[in-house]
Amino acid sequence: MKKPVETQKVMFTETVLRDANQSLIATRLPYSKFADILPTMDKAGYYSVECWGGAVFDVCLRFLNEDPWQRLRNLRKAMPSSKLQMLLRGQNLLGYKHYPDEIVKMFVEKSVENGIDVIRIFDALNDLRNIETATKTAIKCGATVSGTLSYTQSPVHTLAAFAKQAKEMENMGVATICVKDMAGVMTPQEAYDLIGAIKSEVKIPVVLHTHCTTGMAFMTYLKAIEAGVDVIDTATSCFSGGTSQPATETLNYALKQMGYDTGLDDAALKEVNDFFKPIRDGYLADGTLNAKMMATDTDALNYKVPGGMLSNLVSQLKAQNAMDKFEEVLIETPKVREDLGYPPLVTPMSQMVGVQATNNVLSGERYKNISKEVKAYCRGEYGTSPAPINPEVVKKALGDEKPIEGRYADTLEPVFEQTKKELEGVAKNDEDVLSYILFPQVTEKYFAARKAQEEKIVKYTIEPVEE
Ligand code: CO
Repeated sequence: MKKPVETQKVMFTETVLRDANQSLIATRLPYSKFADILPTMDKAGYYSVECWGGAVFDVCLRFLNEDPWQRLRNLRKAMPSSKLQMLLRGQNLLGYKHYPDEIVKMFVEKSVENGIDVIRIFDALNDLRNIETATKTAIKCGATVSGTLSYTQSPVHTLAAFAKQAKEMENMGVATICVKDMAGVMTPQEAYDLIGAIKSEVKIPVVLHTHCTTGMAFMTYLKAIEAGVDVIDTATSCFSGGTSQPATETLNYALKQMGYDTGLDDAALKEVNDFFKPIRDGYLADGTLNAKMMATDTDALNYKVPGGMLSNLVSQLKAQNAMDKFEEVLIETPKVREDLGYPPLVTPMSQMVGVQATNNVLSGERYKNISKEVKAYCRGEYGTSPAPINPEVVKKALGDEKPIEGRYADTLEPVFEQTKKELEGVAKNDEDVLSYILFPQVTEKYFAARKAQEEKIVKYTIEPVEE
């Protein structure tokens, strides 16, 4: 007798609170705007709710006058049944440089203690030494770790190389493997081949993350599902498309009709979208959301440069009155990337490659001016490049200096206790100290604003009421 075909389960991570928010409106959603919908999101049946990490932490302190830790505690309280997910840049945590292991451990411990369940951990260079401390700590704390591969195309980023890294991460003890296509350039065929290759190498579930930027994402997800992907990242429809993720409701509708089990509650999904629609319209009206961000842009396919990087290049060249060099810089960009050993073009590599390509064109001589970041990269401070860096570039960057051996974070001294002492009377807890270590100037300003606010409240409450 034939065994009945088992229904394939496809689970969803909802990104409206983090990546959709970050990709469309530069993460400007304050907690107060979405607090009321959290109980509904809590029962919608998502695999997880991505709501913290990435740029959320920085923007909370820098622009929203919000304590990111308090936001996390509020989310935890409002969504007791959901798995709360964050994105973490390995040894960079949520900042832009490498931190000593001591800080990485404490940051991960505090994230879990304050409510995080799932931590998606990646490194811009896919150097696994840079995700090891965060991964081990998170596992120890009982969090679900999603070991993440930064997706890119190059002669060294083969199916076999990605599958091998996935296996290495499985051996590190991660619970799932995530393929992160930050630029939205993965085609349906590439997804089918890559997910298939990883699935045949590892036993743990595989997650796919992409963006709609080039218009591929819905097709890419469908082919990834055919290849057996377990979880996809989507955004509620009014916050989907363009530089954001594909729409949650659309994929849920289509997949259910095809017989897949999504576990999602249709009524809850509609309620979530209805809630966010007027918020989206408000951001469109006040210009926070540029309608262009929601459209399809295939330039990234032609130039092999992520959309966000293209707009950075344009503003860089405009600022230097050199827009006539745009084509030249675009041709130079992949050459610089090749010289630097094919780093995936994700933060901070995308900025470094873009600035260097611009320098090479504008100065009229390649590598005449080398940024201090590219010098540090050549020294090995960001990790090992996917392919060797062009020796001539290394020579121009470092002269006779030798690149470091081993892992850069091993050369960093602990800073927590010293910083805590310096912040006596200002920091209220260890979380405050960690915020300060990640973003010193921004957090200092936030502390001052918080103090002013508290004094106002105290003054108001102790003033006798005139009758
Ligand atoms: Co993303």
